[in-house]
Amino acid sequence: MLLTIPDVLTAEQVAQARQLLDTAEWVDGRVTAGHQSAKAKHNAQLPEGHPVSKQLGEMILAALARNNLFFSAALPLRVFPPLFNSYAGGQSFGTHVDNAIRQIPGSGHRIRTDLSATLFLTAPEDYDGGELCVEDTYGVKSVKLPAGQMVLYPATSLHHVTPVTSGARISSFFWIQSMIRDDGQRSLLFDLDLGIQRIARDHPEHPSAIQLTGVYHNLLRQWAEM
Ligand code: NI
Repeated sequence: MLLTIPDVLTAEQVAQARQLLDTAEWVDGRVTAGHQSAKAKHNAQLPEGHPVSKQLGEMILAALARNNLFFSAALPLRVFPPLFNSYAGGQSFGTHVDNAIRQIPGSGHRIRTDLSATLFLTAPEDYDGGELCVEDTYGVKSVKLPAGQMVLYPATSLHHVTPVTSGARISSFFWIQSMIRDDGQRSLLFDLDLGIQRIARDHPEHPSAIQLTGVYHNLLRQWAEM
């Protein structure tokens, strides 16, 4: 499932992020790439552990913690501290798949990357190219979102970023380990959750709301890994 999450950050938060990022020192993006993706990756990145990375990462994690749509779709167990990248001057990232396991910097913890996220920090009219193209079962989906919006997609997908031919594309990217490892099971729970919310809103007295909520929680209990 590929899902757009609107309004992760407010316009003020995006402006604050851009101001801090515009003054930071960037490095070659290949520092976090695996052996195979290093050959395909051409961009700049804020070093992991950079103070701006930490400050903005905390802002993003706090925003996600308040976001019901994110919680419902991702059922997050752990979220990788957000990273930041920039593409300009024809830079791109060729087709690759993200590493399955990532060490959380400065901790002994690792996360399994079930979901990949890109949070756009540049308005789409400020650059040409830079589409995130994700291959899923039904073909390639091309994503270019307004600043402050985020796309969530299965980390198992092959994906690439097309060359940025004018302007600059600045984004945050990170991974989520979900309580539900399997994308199909996670998608079923998300659909069921949306259906329950609709019944609860339109027919609050209907007994099906309680019955279906029970099914949701009992499936979660069967499938969740903590
Ligand atoms: Ni990637």
